[in-house]
This record gives sequence, C-alpha cells and structure tokens, in this order.
Amino acid sequence: MDDKKMEMLEKYFSDFQESLAKVETLDELNRVKGQYLGRKSLMGDFLTQLRSLSPEEKRIWGQKLNEIKSRMEEDLKKKYEWLMFEKGESSSFIDVTLPGRKQWVGSFHPVLIVRDQILSIFQSLGFRIESGPEIESDFYNFEALNIPPDHPTRDDQDSFYLSPGWLLRTHTSPGQIRAMQKLTPPFKVVVPGRCYRRDAFDATHSPMFHQIEGLVVAPSISMGDLKGTVAIFVRRFFGLHRQVRFRPSYFPFTEPSAEVDVSCGVCQGKGCRSCGYSGWLEIMGAGLVHPQVFAKVGYDPEQVRGFAFGMGVERITMLKFGVTDIRWFLENDVNFLEQFKALR
Ligand code: PHE
Repeated sequence: MDDKKMEMLEKYFSDFQESLAKVETLDELNRVKGQYLGRKSLMGDFLTQLRSLSPEEKRIWGQKLNEIKSRMEEDLKKKYEWLMFEKGESSSFIDVTLPGRKQWVGSFHPVLIVRDQILSIFQSLGFRIESGPEIESDFYNFEALNIPPDHPTRDDQDSFYLSPGWLLRTHTSPGQIRAMQKLTPPFKVVVPGRCYRRDAFDATHSPMFHQIEGLVVAPSISMGDLKGTVAIFVRRFFGLHRQVRFRPSYFPFTEPSAEVDVSCGVCQGKGCRSCGYSGWLEIMGAGLVHPQVFAKVGYDPEQVRGFAFGMGVERITMLKFGVTDIRWFLENDVNFLEQFKALR
C-alpha cells in the first residue's frame, strides 16, 4: 500500500463525514453506515487486502484502518444519539412493551407534617412563630433558664458541647429567652426546632429530635390559661373525646411545673398495652414562667406573668400514628414514609 491509498482513505473518511452530516433520519443513518463500513465498502476492501501485506505493512495499515474505523463508529454513535434523543427520531422502532418510567412524587416527612399541624393550631389561637439557632450559648440554653451550673442536664453526658460555653441546644426553651428579649409583652409565641442530647439511640430516644416550645407573656396569666390552651390544642390535634391531665413536676424555669398527659386513644383511658396500662400518655412539660427567668431578661416579675410548655414532635407523631420506634423517622425507608403521603 502506498501514498495514493492513504489519500484514498483520507478522502473516504471526509466523504463519510460529509454524508453523515446530511443524515436526518435513522434510515439514512443505516444507509451511510452500510455504505462506508459494510462488507462491500472501501473499508471492507482495505481490510481484506490487509491479509496479503507484509507483516511490517500490516502493522502500519492495520493501525491506520482501525483508527479511522473507530472514529467512524464514534461519529455514527453520536449521530444516532442526536437523532434519538434530540431530534426525537425514535418513531421507526418504538418498543411498546417497555414499561413506562414512573415519576416519583415526594412527600413531607411525618415529623414535619405533625410539626406544621401543631403550629397551625397555635397560629389559629394567635401565637406567632419564632425560631432560634441550633448552636446555643450556655446563657440561653441553661443560665437564663435558671438552670444552675451544677444541674445534671448541664452534664457532658447529656449535652453536645462544641467548645466551652457553646453547645447544641438540648431543648427549645432558649427560644423563650430570645422571644422575651425581642418582643414586648403581651405576646404569644411558638418556637419549633431541632434539639440534641447525648442519649442512647433506642426505640424512644434519639440524639436529634424536634420540639415545639410555647410561651405566653401577659400581665395576668394563670395556670388556668395554660390548662385551657393545652386542652384546646389536645382536642383539636388528637380528637374531641380526649382528656387532659396535669401532674405536678419540676423544671428549673417554671413554677409551678407540670407534666401534661392525654388520655389514651386506644383504650379511652381504661388502660392497655400502648399506654402501659395507665390510661394516660405524657405529651409535654409545662408551667408558669419562673420569676428568676423574667429577671434574667430584665422583665419585672411583679408586672408580668407567663406560661410555657415544650413538647417533643417525634413523640407526638408516634402517639398520633402508632409508630413504635423513633428510629423509623431517621431510616429513610420510603415504604414507611409514603404511608403519610396523603396527610399533606
Ligand atoms: N424544656 C423542657 C424539656 O425539654 C420542657 C418544658 C418547656 C417544660 C417549657 C416546661 C416549660 O423537657
């Protein structure tokens, strides 16, 4: 083989490119492919002639032919893709047996659905929504809430400290402090957010969970206002037949303090397995704002009163839908999550 043949080959390749450029349909593409790469094409001839060449020539020409052939194949493939996907020229062979592509529609996470349901109940009662940072200082998370330095909740065991004096908030109660600093009484706020604790990760504990804090500050707030508000919330959220009960409790930032229970929806308070045979389910901590807390934000405890409550959103979601393990909320199992799709 000689220079003349090399010229032929180069012309052949540029002819091929020219023909390919004019291709508009799959039929034309197949014709060009047959013409330039088929058995009876010049390329076919050249490949056949290879056999009669000396080993040295075979090596040179074999390499050259292969290079051109694979460039042609590459160009054909690109053209094919252009025809199929950009020009939409797939009509000549639609495979009607191919299953359609399913479009997955996402859904809101159950914890967020419940969070929003709770918030909208409080909004309808005139509460405004506030938020605060997940990284809090000692002052907001503890000190301003009348939690003394030696209190067990300050222990490293329970909190994620980032550096001395800074931690991931262990509850949304710092939102109370921020709301009081920002607003002038009277006001009603709810503060939703993520909280973090160095707890075990088991069926009822998670190192990250959500709370909703509530705070009402006005001149003449009483436990009666707290009970009434909570009762309205419980009946709207869980159902009209549910009962509410306050049990005396202790929080450093409220006095008096209470734990709030709702009657079990499974046994209507008679006692069953889901309520541990007590007939009641705990849903939140609450109480009247401690005078020390008012003092920390510069409010006069003689002039204002307030009530506060805090509830765990995962816990309430579990009670509402009978979810028995908090870890489900973090598994990202689509089959689990999809069950809540219709709710929003
Ligand atoms: N912050 C408390 C907790 O995390 C809940 C609470 C909030 C209690 C407001 C009383 C008042 O357990």
